[in-house]
Formats: sequence, C-alpha cells, structure tokens
Amino acid sequence: MWGGRFERGPAEIMERINASIDFDRKLHAQDIAGSKAHAAMLVAQGIIASDDGEKIQAGLDAVKAEIDEGRFEFRRDREDIHLNVEARLAELIGPAAGRLHTARSRNDQVATDFRLWVRDAADRLSGQATDLVAALLDQAETHADVVMPGFTHLQVAQPITFGHHLMAYVAMLERDIGRLRDARARLNECPLGAAALAGTSFPIDRFATAAALGFDRPTANSLDSVSSRDFALEYLAAASILGVHLSRLAEEIVIWTSAQFRFITLTDAFTTGSSIMPQKRNPDAAELSRAKVGRVIGALNALLIVMKGLPLAYAKDMQEDKEPTFEAAEAIELVVAAMAGMVRDMTPNAPVLKAAAGTGFSTATDLADWLVRALNMPFREAHHVTGRIVKLAETRGIDLDALSLADMQGIEPRITAAVFDVLSVDNSVASRVSFGGTAPSGVRLQIAAARTRLGL
Ligand code: ARG
Repeated sequence: MWGGRFERGPAEIMERINASIDFDRKLHAQDIAGSKAHAAMLVAQGIIASDDGEKIQAGLDAVKAEIDEGRFEFRRDREDIHLNVEARLAELIGPAAGRLHTARSRNDQVATDFRLWVRDAADRLSGQATDLVAALLDQAETHADVVMPGFTHLQVAQPITFGHHLMAYVAMLERDIGRLRDARARLNECPLGAAALAGTSFPIDRFATAAALGFDRPTANSLDSVSSRDFALEYLAAASILGVHLSRLAEEIVIWTSAQFRFITLTDAFTTGSSIMPQKRNPDAAELSRAKVGRVIGALNALLIVMKGLPLAYAKDMQEDKEPTFEAAEAIELVVAAMAGMVRDMTPNAPVLKAAAGTGFSTATDLADWLVRALNMPFREAHHVTGRIVKLAETRGIDLDALSLADMQGIEPRITAAVFDVLSVDNSVASRVSFGGTAPSGVRLQIAAARTRLGL
C-alpha cells in the first residue's frame, strides 16, 4: 500500500509485531459498513464517479460475503483489517478500489470501526445486565419475606430480608446500566473524515457519513478524533465497576453455599463435583465469575497505561487498544450470563436463614429503640442498658428473647413484657419501614419502582 517509497519488504519480526489482523479481523463488519458509507458519500459529493462507487459497493458486499461464509483469506502480510479488505477489493474490482481511500486515513477508519464495535458491546452488556436485574427482581419478589441476617464486618448486625439483600444488587446494576448508557451516548460521534489528523481538502460531508453509520453527529475536532480512546476506557471502566459488583455477589454465593452457612442451594446445573470427595458440590461458576472480573479490570488498566504517555495525534501504540477490550467484553458478558443463570437457579434456605437471623443478638438495636420509644430514654443511654442485657444473655449462653422479664428488669426496672414483641426477627424487619429499608412492604415498593424504571 506504500510501495512507492519503499524498496524492500519488512523483516519477519517487523511483520509479526506490526500486524494486527489476528485480532482486528473482529472489526470486519464495522470496517465494511464504514467503507460503504464513505464511498456513498464520495459519490454524493461528486468526489468519485458513480460507476466507480457502484463497483466499490458491489465489491465490498462480495468481500463481506466471503468473510461471512468463511472463504476470506486473512493475510498477515496485509497487516490489518483495513488493508486486508481494501487489497481484496482491488483483486475483485480492479483500479476503482484505489479511489475508496480518497479523503480518509486508516487513523479515522480504525477510530470509526472501533467506536462502532464498542457501541455494540455497550448495548449488548446493558441488555444482559437488564436481564440479570430481571432475574434478581423475580427472586427478590418471591422471597421478599424471607428473613436473613444482615452483616457488617461479616458479623451478624441486624435482621434483613433476602429480597432486600438482592435489591441492593439491583440498585448497583441500575447504576451500571446507567454508566453504560452514558458511555454509549458520549461515544456516539463519528470520527470518519478526520483523515490522518488534520481533516481533508476534499469537499466531504461528515454529517452524511455520521448519519449513515447511526452516529448522532461527527466529532468536533479532527486531531482528537484520531487520538482519543476514552470511549473504550469509559466502556471498560463501566464494565469493571459492573464486574466488581458481580464479583461481590459471586463471593456471597460462594459463602452462602458453604456447609457452614447453607443460606442458599444451587442445583446440579451450577455446581460441580469433586473427583475424590463424593460429597462435594462446588460453586465453580461463582468462583470463575469472581476470577474473570480480574481480566476486565486488567484490560482497563492496560489501556489506561497504553494511552497515558502518548503525544497527539495517532501513535501505533493505539493498536493495542483492541485486544484488551475484546477480551474484557468476552469475559464480562460471560460473567453476567453466568450470574443471571445462578441467580435464577438459587433457592434460599428459609429456616436456616431465619435461625441465623436471630443469632448474634441481632435484635439488640430493636431493644435499644424500644427503650427510647417506650421509656423516652436518650439513645446513648438505651445503647448502654441494652449492652448490659446482651452481656447477661451472652454470659448465660442464650438469645435475647430467652431472657425472662425479671432478668431484664434487674437491669432496667421500667421494662415491661411488651419488649418481647420487638425481639423477634420478623417483627424487627417488619418495623423497618423507613424509605429504602428492609421491611417486606418496603422491599415490594422497591421492586415495583425498579420494574417501572427499567420497563420490566
Ligand atoms: N491497525 C491500526 C490500528 O489498529 C490501524 C491504524 C494504522 N494507522 C497508521 N497510521 N499506521 O491502530
């Protein structure tokens, strides 16, 4: 493609480090769509003749068919997807192919292709995340009344409901979906026509190519158009944050399925056995989801590091944007799908959850709140009195509601039998009716509101 100035071909190792066709062939559909839009615009603007334009369109369709049908020979000596497509086009239609590259460069071409690819990836991922939210909403609704322990520091804190716990992930995922949509809206500007970096002297219509490719408008600055990859960074950042959320859910699934917790069960569909220990049922899908998120975070870091030292405009370093992004997209899509499968598959173990909810003096806060309400005690004093009652129960090795009224009155004489109403875990969760709180009635409101927001 640049034989005019060169006397011999590249060293073998040069070709190996330089060629990107092994991975950027993934951009073939975007590359051909971009070329078709560009060629149509060149004809419409009178920059190339319409019969050449027709040959180019038909030739590009033929190249696309060869690729789709697996008949296309991707050649490393043709470096990347752009040159592979153009060289094959020349073989198919002859000299007219040479007019396609008028008023464009591979720099704006690859920026356009990659934006189109990331746009699809962002759409796929937000669609998948919405499906995971639907699975969480269904489980939250079914188990809105199942009481379980809520933790801080992984120590039992206060009773909550299983539905409430799942709705916490729905809240995170809604923000993740919002981030993906925001990233998509910002990336949807077309770099095509920025050419190498400075724009072009041909009377091109960048608004026409932008519209033809589904972009909202052309990018505003030709230098920025070929220099920037923050659209991919934003996608990777959104995917990484989503990944962090899913990794935490995966970690909880690992803990919850353990023999010590037995909070949920997964069916055979989402567990594996052991080759030596017949009793085992391992939550491999959760563990692998947790681990694969590392690739996504790694990809974000890799691309940040590629970009951070580059002077404007294009540098070949930027060819290294694709592999991490492709790999991250594959990993995060697999993780979201696996998590949706696991969420649909899991069954909470209600009796175990309820028993666990009552351990660790989890209703101590309810007792303190009762002292405030019934006896008009300042909360700090109520906290102290409750602490002494907890200590008594702890010394005896029993739960709070197993203490007698006399035991409690020994610490605070004004306590009445009404206190026992607030010590049950069911009453505890039912009482937490503040907006966003764990009461089943409130959880049902959260579920309905999320369904409305997401159109589910
Ligand atoms: N394969 C290149 C990439 O992915 C395309 C752009 C090449 N531009 C250049 N001036 N060498 O970045």
